[in-house]
Amino acid sequence: MHTSGLMVKTRKDKKAEQEIHDMRAGLLAWYDKEGRTLPWRVRPEDRAAGEIADPYAVWLSEIMLQQTTVPHGTPYWHKFLKAFPTVTYLANADREKVLGMWAGLGYYARARNLHKCAQMIRDDYNGHFPKTEAELLELPGIGPYTAATIAAICFGQATNIVDGNVERVISRIFKVEEPLPEARKPLRLLAGTLADPLRAGDYGQAVMDLGATICTPRSPNCAICPWDDFCLAKEKGTPEAYPRKAAKKPKPIRYGAAFVAVSKGEVLLETRPDKGLLGGMAGLPGSEWTSKRLETPLKSAPFEGDWIKSKREVKHVFTHFELRLQVYKAEFETRPNSNQAWADDYLLAGLPTVFKKALKAVQL
Ligand code: ADE
Repeated sequence: MHTSGLMVKTRKDKKAEQEIHDMRAGLLAWYDKEGRTLPWRVRPEDRAAGEIADPYAVWLSEIMLQQTTVPHGTPYWHKFLKAFPTVTYLANADREKVLGMWAGLGYYARARNLHKCAQMIRDDYNGHFPKTEAELLELPGIGPYTAATIAAICFGQATNIVDGNVERVISRIFKVEEPLPEARKPLRLLAGTLADPLRAGDYGQAVMDLGATICTPRSPNCAICPWDDFCLAKEKGTPEAYPRKAAKKPKPIRYGAAFVAVSKGEVLLETRPDKGLLGGMAGLPGSEWTSKRLETPLKSAPFEGDWIKSKREVKHVFTHFELRLQVYKAEFETRPNSNQAWADDYLLAGLPTVFKKALKAVQL
């Protein structure tokens, strides 16, 4: 027999048929009773009464909840649904408005793709979401997880839903010794052996709820877990040690300067280039962000002035690096360049978090 690293390390690479049957039944019974009530979710009893999940509402929630918790993401979901009640409303909205409303959720490429995706659904699909995983995968911002989730929840397709929660749960059930990120593919295959084709949407959401509420990263509550009896990591006594993770490299540090030019209570803003970090978002003018401290930061000021340096540096952690931003402020009675955009408090509220921190550093 061919023995892959995974088989050797996990002892058991597949559950027996009867066990799979019992696991599905146990989990779905738990979900029917204990699953979370979320505003975009159609609970099993409501579906039985004829309610169907709205793909637009589900898609919006799934994009927002990537890298974001349910409590943080939910108010944004309500705000978007109120402003843009259908995917066509969203497609027709100004991109700046959509990006502004996204501020605070981070990972702004998601907001740009969200808008692009809405426009493709309006233009290529007559305002209706396609129903297959393959078609959904073709749309901007929709990756394997989101395609599988929408296809299962909204269109009843038998897909394999795998997100970070599912990876954690599955790594514990099978006691996978291979570390993330290499373990991603084997975990997906193992998850697929358990997924219930008859209730794929409920099953996937049940595993995610299990991961979010019981099988949590640091202190799993095995005593109330419906999969308690099937979990190899629990049997060993160290569920929190899974998933194994490769040692993290420290994030590189980048340095930059940002300028807060104030005139008549308004602040000078610029639109960032489409490509690159925070692309298309409003931002403070400033230097490039580089790996060395700037020797002549004032050279990147938007214009000459009595720039005063803030006492403290702003720190902000992005996915691939940590930023240290030196912030300068100056007041201008007359505006040096009348063509530029000066923003009031309302617009400042829509700035990405890193620039809000910069404003705070100079007390605005
Ligand atoms: N996290 C993101 N999407 C989810 C969903 N549909 N159910 C449970 N947890 C989630």
